[in-house]
Amino acid sequence: MRIGMLTGGGDCPGLNAVIRAAVRKGVLHYGDEFVGFMEGWRGVLDDRTMPLDLTTTSGILHRGGTILRSSRTNVKKIEGGFERCLAVLQAHQLDALIAMGGDDTQSISVELVKRGVPCIGVPKTIDNDLSGTDVCFGFDTAVTIATEAVDRLHSTTEAHSRVQVVEVMGRDAGWIAITAGIAGGADVILVPEKPIDMDDLVRLLRARWESGKRFAVVVVAEGAKLPEHTGQISAGTKLDSFGHVRLSGVGQVLAEEIEKRTGYETRSVNLGHTQRGGAPTAFDRMLATRYGVAAIDLVHAGRFGRLVVLKGTAITDIPLEEAIAATRTVGEDLMDVMRGLQPKG
Ligand code: F6P
Repeated sequence: MRIGMLTGGGDCPGLNAVIRAAVRKGVLHYGDEFVGFMEGWRGVLDDRTMPLDLTTTSGILHRGGTILRSSRTNVKKIEGGFERCLAVLQAHQLDALIAMGGDDTQSISVELVKRGVPCIGVPKTIDNDLSGTDVCFGFDTAVTIATEAVDRLHSTTEAHSRVQVVEVMGRDAGWIAITAGIAGGADVILVPEKPIDMDDLVRLLRARWESGKRFAVVVVAEGAKLPEHTGQISAGTKLDSFGHVRLSGVGQVLAEEIEKRTGYETRSVNLGHTQRGGAPTAFDRMLATRYGVAAIDLVHAGRFGRLVVLKGTAITDIPLEEAIAATRTVGEDLMDVMRGLQPKG
């Protein structure tokens, strides 16, 4: 079969591992041929490709980023966009197209499936917010990086008897914040799922000082909502092509508010894109590899319009529509773990 592949949206560690696994299984077991579209859907629109074979995908398992590059290109916003995609995909005589991406990228796959394109999706995002899968690849690496940062910040924060606010990514979901926060032993964890209660935050910090621990680490998700601010805090008002603002800055605003209310010296750091960079963890390499192999097997089973997912410990698949229907947010079970570690209100 002739199979196209692309990576769309924010990159994340593990994309190369999926590409390598899919190509290896396809070439070595099915005799497939591959074509890689550059920069997500933009590469399909502009017909920009690179060859994907055993040579071009060799030595990339451990590399972050994506050899196919990425972009946030919304075909729906481009006049005649879907027609252009269909013409290019037809010209390449493709039997299948594998798109690695989050909800934005997969929303385009859904539209193409409606127009007869045999698409398969692979769930990629450090935000871990796609419905229908327990874990997206890239998330474990982002959490590992954020946890290491929280660990490192503990000693300098203690040395200066400060409060240290750490802003992490995740958009409208608090998965990175709550996981890295709990794993790193943060004293306060703030997620978009629950508006920030400043009185409760101050109570927790005071309790910590009174217990003799005169320093604290606060992990805040970029999408967390502060009282007295309408909505989330962003860097400017510009929207990307899928209508998202660039969330950033809540950590600094929060740090100033904490210092004002408590008198404790407070600093903030925004981990930003550091969380998306570098080599994937062993967990993400493994998950990405399983997804890549499963995607090729789905292609050969002729089961299109599906997203490969992890349920418990098993790889399975769900309809693409199900994955983009809603943002998967942090549930009360994890919130209970977090609250269980804090002094009672
Ligand atoms: O969706 C992944 C993500 O890293 C979000 O956590 C973050 O809000 C956004 O992408 C950042 O996007 P960009 O790379 O376009 O600044």
